[in-house]
Amino acid sequence: MGLTVNSGEVSSAGDFDSVAQPADTPEPALGDAFGDILVRCHAAGAASWSAVEIAERDDGLLSADDAARYFIGPERWPSTERRACESARGRVLDVGCGAGRHALAMQAAGLEVTGLEPSHGAAVVSRARGVPVAEGTLRNPPDELRGTFDTLLLAGTLGLLATPEDAPVVLAAAASVARPGAQLLGCSLDPYVTGRDEHLRYQRRNRERGLYPGQVRLRVRDGAIATPFFNFLFLSADELRRLAGGTAWRLESYDVEGARCLARLVLR
Ligand SMILES: C[S@@+](CC[C@H](N)C(=O)[O-])C[C@H]1O[C@@H](n2cnc3c(N)ncnc32)[C@H](O)[C@@H]1O
Repeated sequence: MGLTVNSGEVSSAGDFDSVAQPADTPEPALGDAFGDILVRCHAAGAASWSAVEIAERDDGLLSADDAARYFIGPERWPSTERRACESARGRVLDVGCGAGRHALAMQAAGLEVTGLEPSHGAAVVSRARGVPVAEGTLRNPPDELRGTFDTLLLAGTLGLLATPEDAPVVLAAAASVARPGAQLLGCSLDPYVTGRDEHLRYQRRNRERGLYPGQVRLRVRDGAIATPFFNFLFLSADELRRLAGGTAWRLESYDVEGARCLARLVLR
């Protein structure tokens, strides 16, 4: 198992004596690990490294990141995220709003923004920061959101399309909360812009299993608590265009900056 910390590499592959694991070695308890991390970071004034987000991929890769990045202002965002927020118009749904950093910036620009969040802890933090939040998922949005948004922002959450099979279902759910003429702005990573061995190996394993290279299964861990494993999908422009093909959405643009991308889809 490897451990990646965003400031460097730490390998935990050591020369420990091999010890038989008891069959009942416990799994972490299921819980709102992501929300708990944000609540702790918020309580610490969003100080750097006051809370650490651990993501565990299903091949055992662990990555540790500073949760304070969920609180930073636009001046420190990748330009794809700034451009997405600047392109927002009308009533906006910030899908997977986290601690509300994008919603706050769009509110400051005069837009009416609602967050959508399945994590209760994240919703509590966003509300405390002044963002109205509906609790729910993009796949099953609360009924009161139906047909009401001109812009859906998926900043760091375009991966919620989940799998090639799920993507049309999730895009249909996204269309159900949109008004005619709505746009969906998605910020993500292009899976093919990586030279890192652990990612290339994972992509190779995906291909061997007949999966898209950018399909990822992971969970968030906090102490002995973990979210359930969930699917996340990183897509090239061609893959996204193909998956959106039979849906109500049409891919209008897909801009790449390094490994980051900004996709804009519009309702047909
Ligand atoms: C990587 S975080 C991004 C948070 C925020 N957009 C940001 O960039 O600061 C992913 C967010 O998506 C939320 N999320 C997870 N599954 C979701 C779903 N099915 N529908 C909507 N949001 C979801 C998580 O709780 C989390 O807040």
